[in-house]
Amino acid sequence: MASEASPQPARILVVGSGGRENALAWALIRSHGVETVWVAPGNGGTGDLAGCQPLAIPETDADALVEACRRHGIELVVVGPEAPLAAGVADRLRTAGLAVFGPGADGAQLEASKHWAKALMQEAGVPTAGYWWAGSEEEALAVLNRESRPLVVKADGLAAGKGVTVAETMDEARAAIGEIFAGRFGGDASLVLEERTEGPEVSVFALSDGQNLVLLPPAQDHKRIGEGDTGPNTGGMGAYAPAPLLDDAGMEQVRRQVLEPTLAALRRRGIDYRGVIYAGLMLTADGPSVIEFNCRFGDPECETLMPLLGPELATVLLACARGQLATAPPLTIAPLCSACVIAAAEGYPAAVRRGDAISSSLQPDGHLQLFHAGSSRDSQGVCRTSGGRVLAMVAQADDFDTAFERAYWGLEQVHFAGMTYRRDIGHQVRSR
Ligand code: AMP
Ligand code: GLY
Repeated sequence: MASEASPQPARILVVGSGGRENALAWALIRSHGVETVWVAPGNGGTGDLAGCQPLAIPETDADALVEACRRHGIELVVVGPEAPLAAGVADRLRTAGLAVFGPGADGAQLEASKHWAKALMQEAGVPTAGYWWAGSEEEALAVLNRESRPLVVKADGLAAGKGVTVAETMDEARAAIGEIFAGRFGGDASLVLEERTEGPEVSVFALSDGQNLVLLPPAQDHKRIGEGDTGPNTGGMGAYAPAPLLDDAGMEQVRRQVLEPTLAALRRRGIDYRGVIYAGLMLTADGPSVIEFNCRFGDPECETLMPLLGPELATVLLACARGQLATAPPLTIAPLCSACVIAAAEGYPAAVRRGDAISSSLQPDGHLQLFHAGSSRDSQGVCRTSGGRVLAMVAQADDFDTAFERAYWGLEQVHFAGMTYRRDIGHQVRSR
């Protein structure tokens, strides 16, 4: 039985419409004590999950979300994407007396401002590449010319994953700087120039109640559209976990050198961070270095990780929301390998075709899940493509070869016109 300190929420609202939110809803409905999970606005797959219901409310409409929470007796709200978090939706819900997993607008600056995050890291002594901030094109070009090497150029605000240029040449760096100050990512432009670092990248997620942290297994994403990690960047074409790049000692180092000092620095700024801290790390020759922080779960890392988490998840997220992680039950993690492959629409990551019917003969089982992302139901109830990344096929097994074979088999059971996916996801951990 749950102790009084760790209640199990029966009625949960997940805010968002992506594959991440579909996977969160799937995992939460399996958690101890959960009866119903509403998803606002959800996607074409929400209604397929037994116990889950879509709510036609935009993710940034805080007033309508509060009203829906009252109407449905919601005990926990999980805010998925960065846009509502940065817009203060979690603050508005908390002010209305709700328990919310997701930081307020103050904590969301970890993701919403690269400059703010870099300054916090520097103050906290967190390992990260050296940087310069520039508020004008002249200043940025002056730094570039003084350093006389192509630096990494990062737009300061939220840029939907498109604000970073790892410049190979001075001309490329100048062009990236020019675009930012021409207003490509918003009018009030500024940027961060960063030293370039080298090494494999890995994502680490820590659940926080403002004081304590629970770390999830490390995951590796595949950002490029093309096989062999080629072509333009995407939101992520597939992932696997646990990534052997970080063993237990490596994770302990990340906790000590990155996550604990970051949480302490947030507290020193008066920020009570209740949500997930996503550390995008590069494993350099000198140890882990933070490439970026995000204030949300990664996508597709979330789809990859959720099937590994135990039925304490809802209780643990509610404990984070209430600042009571210290007395929550431990979150069990299945000792399995999880593989995720994204099926994207034709044209992604540029303009994509939409509106194609999605068909599936798949029978998901205990170790195979189909999560929806860019899909929606038409007026006849037919599920159609409506975004770039359409589906996430996720499978678990004792080894990565079997997990990926299952996920790729699963993809052969689903179809939409123009469906594309990378066949080499997990090449780092597969032997066949
Ligand atoms: P982000 O949009 O912040 O996720 O950055 C996109 C990608 O740019 C990262 O996944 C890295 O591959 C790369 N990147 C960002 N910062 C650096 C850096 N300082 N050195 C080398 N690559 C970087
Ligand atoms: N998969 C990368 C991200 O969610 O930002």
